[in-house]
Amino acid sequence: MKIVLASANKGKIKEIKAYFEGSEVLAYSDILEPLEIVEDGDTYQANAVIKAKTIYDLLKDKLKDFVVLADDSGITVPVLGNIPGVYSARYAGVGASDKENLYKLIDALKEKNIKKTPAFYTAAMAIVSDKGIFTVHGWMHGEVIDEARGEGGFGYDPMFIPEGFEETLGELDLSIKEQFSHRTKALRLVGLVM
Ligand code: IMP
Repeated sequence: MKIVLASANKGKIKEIKAYFEGSEVLAYSDILEPLEIVEDGDTYQANAVIKAKTIYDLLKDKLKDFVVLADDSGITVPVLGNIPGVYSARYAGVGASDKENLYKLIDALKEKNIKKTPAFYTAAMAIVSDKGIFTVHGWMHGEVIDEARGEGGFGYDPMFIPEGFEETLGELDLSIKEQFSHRTKALRLVGLVM
């Protein structure tokens, strides 16, 4: 069975392909023309369903024996009023780069003189196939700091220190993040419903 990823985010695609190593995993952009999906849901779950359903509907008459998997994710910093949360991808504005979003969150901590504070990542995954629509969630807890350290990972990883570590996800090897990330935890549940 093919797994089609309803994402254009290279960091996510890399992590999900690594998780399903040995299975046939495709990014939707390998099969379809580029398209803009409006993610206007209020929750990660709603946005994951919008993405997966849009791609499933475009492929259902073209492909056989496949599921579409979509991830919607983000980071939450409780002390800042639970921002950026579901708006993580467009925290510094629609179309903002990962770096712009990262440094905007660093600046928000600096403005309040916060060097380190608890934070968590959430991943919602939607799986759409001829069996219907399923959704699952995973979380990763830790702390964010007021600087970017390391070049690894993507997005907010250079400012995020996972629980039990001293280094950021930018400094740690990707194989470590893969052991307990929000995405990995959600993917373990995906395996149960596929
Ligand atoms: P989405 O592609 O609309 O789900 O947006 C996800 C946003 O959250 C992007 O800004 C990502 O950079 C950020 N994000 C999600 N998961 C991670 C992660 O594992 N590491 C770093 N940033 C993440």
